[in-house]
Amino acid sequence: MVSSITSYFDAASRRPLDPVILEQPVPLADVPTPALVVVRTTMERNLARMVEHLAPSGTGLRPHAKMHKTPVVARRQLELGAIGICCAKVSEAEVMRAAGIEHILITSPVASLDKMARVVSLAACSEDVRIVVDDAACARALGDAARSAGIRLKVLVDLDPRMGRTGVALGQPALELVRVVAGCDGLEFTGLQQYAGQIMHLEDAAERRRRAEEVAAAGLQTRDLILADGHDVDVFTGGGTGTFDVDCDEPGITDIQAGSYVFMDEEYAAIGQGNQPRFEYFEPALFVLVTAISRPRSGTITVDGGYKSFASDSVAPVARDLSGVRYHFAGDEHGVLQLLEGAPQIALGDRIRMVTPHCDPTINLHDWMVPVEADGMVHELWPVSARGCSW
Ligand SMILES: Cc1ncc(COP(=O)(O)O)c(C=O)c1O
Repeated sequence: MVSSITSYFDAASRRPLDPVILEQPVPLADVPTPALVVVRTTMERNLARMVEHLAPSGTGLRPHAKMHKTPVVARRQLELGAIGICCAKVSEAEVMRAAGIEHILITSPVASLDKMARVVSLAACSEDVRIVVDDAACARALGDAARSAGIRLKVLVDLDPRMGRTGVALGQPALELVRVVAGCDGLEFTGLQQYAGQIMHLEDAAERRRRAEEVAAAGLQTRDLILADGHDVDVFTGGGTGTFDVDCDEPGITDIQAGSYVFMDEEYAAIGQGNQPRFEYFEPALFVLVTAISRPRSGTITVDGGYKSFASDSVAPVARDLSGVRYHFAGDEHGVLQLLEGAPQIALGDRIRMVTPHCDPTINLHDWMVPVEADGMVHELWPVSARGCSW
């Protein structure tokens, strides 16, 4: 029995937040499948590569934790110099805060009083919790909630780079919203967010660069309008893995919100990058390990991972170490590998590493990440603590 639905939806309680250390390390071959496997050395290489790439320009990194939902990974990003993390939802932020993370930007606006109250409580017990706003009435309500709680809540105005998801229109509408925020006692205007998700996966790298430059220029023009009106704009945050190498060259962008670069996925690997046909600057560090369990007909083999193990919103999972093999979803719990010309023999019981199609929603299907060390051993498990936290 619980006293209220709010306490039941208290995301931070009842969730493991720290790694579980195994008394006896086990070989990856002994981990039950389907398993969400992280190749630790590759993850570390991706983390370091992003830090090195951003260093010359001085652009900050505020990685998006919606991708991994895992405090262990977030803490590692902060250790390596991230200025804070992003969370997509209030509940995700509550979990990260419970795990000891202080600098959090919630990148989606809220529009109901219950969520506003939660944001305010979170900010009241944290050094630096911020949220975006994109509507004047919601901003005023949030300001009232913060004022009643005796705090000044830091907010960013979310700009819509013509993506049509969240954000206020560029130019005058954005300026008017900034004026509303500046006029609310309970709010402190600290900057702007602009995320152009519609261009992140454009296949043609040159076209992606051109569009990202256009988006940045339009957003920074709005920033200039706001500066000219007498407001400080300390933060201009946005961008993702698909445009990381463009955004860091834009002097006005203070930090980028890349998420997927840590693990990568097939959706990203399949687009061009620089002058390469595939995006391999960051390497796949995340796999779903599956086992071959049946061979109902020749030329195919059935594995134990389907819709409940892989996101199915984009491309299909890809076998990392085998050529001539094509994965097809075959239901909730199963996938069928079609064995094409040149495919190797696969015996029942064999384990196959599949590159995830889209990392964010794939991770959200699993309770644990299984980090494997260079020697093939698993020493600990990482809880996907904010799994399912989409409220
Ligand atoms: C607001 C926002 N910022 C940053 C990101 C990170 O994008 P990516 O995983 O492509 O790096 C996302 C992803 O959807 C997002 O919604």
